[in-house]
Amino acid sequence: VQDRRLPQEPGARDGFENAPDTDPSLAANREWAAGIRARMQRSALGADTLAVHTVTDPAALDEIVAGAAAAGEAWRALGAAGRAEILHRVGDVLEARRADLLEVMGSECGKVIEQGDPEVSEAIDFAHYYAAAALELENVDGAEFTPAGLTVVTPPWNFPIAIPAGSTLAALAAGSPVILKPAPNASRCGAVLAEALWEAGVPREVLRLVQVEENGLGSRLIAHEKVERVILTGAYETAELFRSLRQDLPLLAETSGKNAIIVTPSADLDLAAKDVAYSAFGHAGQKCSAASLVVLVGSVAKSERFRRQLLDAVEGYEVGMPWEEGSRIGPLIEPASGKLARALTQLEPGQTWLREPERLDDAGALWRPGIRDGVRPGSEFHTTEYFGPVLGIMTAETLDEAIEIVNAVEYGLTSGLHALDPDEIATWLERIEAGNAYVNRGTTGAIVQRQPFGGWKKSAVGAGTKAGGPSYLFGLGSWADAPV
Ligand code: SER
Repeated sequence: VQDRRLPQEPGARDGFENAPDTDPSLAANREWAAGIRARMQRSALGADTLAVHTVTDPAALDEIVAGAAAAGEAWRALGAAGRAEILHRVGDVLEARRADLLEVMGSECGKVIEQGDPEVSEAIDFAHYYAAAALELENVDGAEFTPAGLTVVTPPWNFPIAIPAGSTLAALAAGSPVILKPAPNASRCGAVLAEALWEAGVPREVLRLVQVEENGLGSRLIAHEKVERVILTGAYETAELFRSLRQDLPLLAETSGKNAIIVTPSADLDLAAKDVAYSAFGHAGQKCSAASLVVLVGSVAKSERFRRQLLDAVEGYEVGMPWEEGSRIGPLIEPASGKLARALTQLEPGQTWLREPERLDDAGALWRPGIRDGVRPGSEFHTTEYFGPVLGIMTAETLDEAIEIVNAVEYGLTSGLHALDPDEIATWLERIEAGNAYVNRGTTGAIVQRQPFGGWKKSAVGAGTKAGGPSYLFGLGSWADAPV
């Protein structure tokens, strides 16, 4: 709405500042959001066709790949300074198009503005942050960096702007040309994002868009011999599938999670309840970083108090379409089916509903979130990733036992601890097996530079550098000598 940028302080950290989110306490911003919701509703409901999405002609694939690969040399020759200038402009264009991005995320993917707004900020942050990182790559003493070359980016639908923006901009910053293949149910978001990058000056040959309807064409793209790097964010099984397509596939993947927040008796319980609710149910739980479990320790496990606070915190989460005022949880991207439908409707032995999920539409896309109590170690709910609005409560006698419960899961993406006791915090930080470990904070919404994002164990495949962190670009090429 207004110019959001503050004057730069001399000597500001790396010259980088995170883009501010829109402040909903200002009346002008609320009006602005109402306008976006009206547009969202018109584009989602105004026609039988939500969007005409041009699927890439399979016969054109070889030409697209060859064209993008050939564009790499000129892009690299632009030098880090030239590429950084374009990336900074990308950040400015994304800011100018914040409303358009929010509209398409809502109408196509069901994302409410409260969730989409920080996502746009994150995309802007990636542009400015990787622009600065490109310059640093050129200035590493005694070592020369060579970008990987043609990079295919395959993002998920749940962060349909920030994740494709982050992966694409990182590869571009490092000096590689990119083919972006959006998730089929976020194809319009991918197209709007690509338009913004082209408008900012990324040449059309250097960033190509491939839209697929089913996996056949995507598989051909990933397995293509001219592809030098694949950046995937998605399920662990997808990473496995990609590796089966091509033996020597240079894959960098951020994969699944089954994340927990531990709450000990020393915690600020009110804050813990709010953070658990937001981490579990933001974007209807459709985040790899979402908290799917809360592990209550000692007296917190035995008392009713925390459970009541949690119920109170969830009460405020109105469910509805993203263009309805007050909606905080939108629809699932697809009606719940398979293991998610089971998690929303069936208890395992020993479990009870603290709050039973409620289906609000015929299709099964809108759900009031549910909380199950009594989840036991080793049960299906303990170890399975669901990607939906259902949280499980587990209990432990001690913090050590709680840590064991959390570490027993094969993934290790995010993890949370709510405790004010410094010894508990130190113990947990020492032992917890997660890429992103958060103390007295929720598990979602990593901030570029402050909380570089990436997983451990089966939450990552390939070189484990973290997005939005100082070494992410290092993994997008090779070094003539080891950096000093
Ligand atoms: N970066 C996102 C988060 O932290 C997940 O991809 O929630």
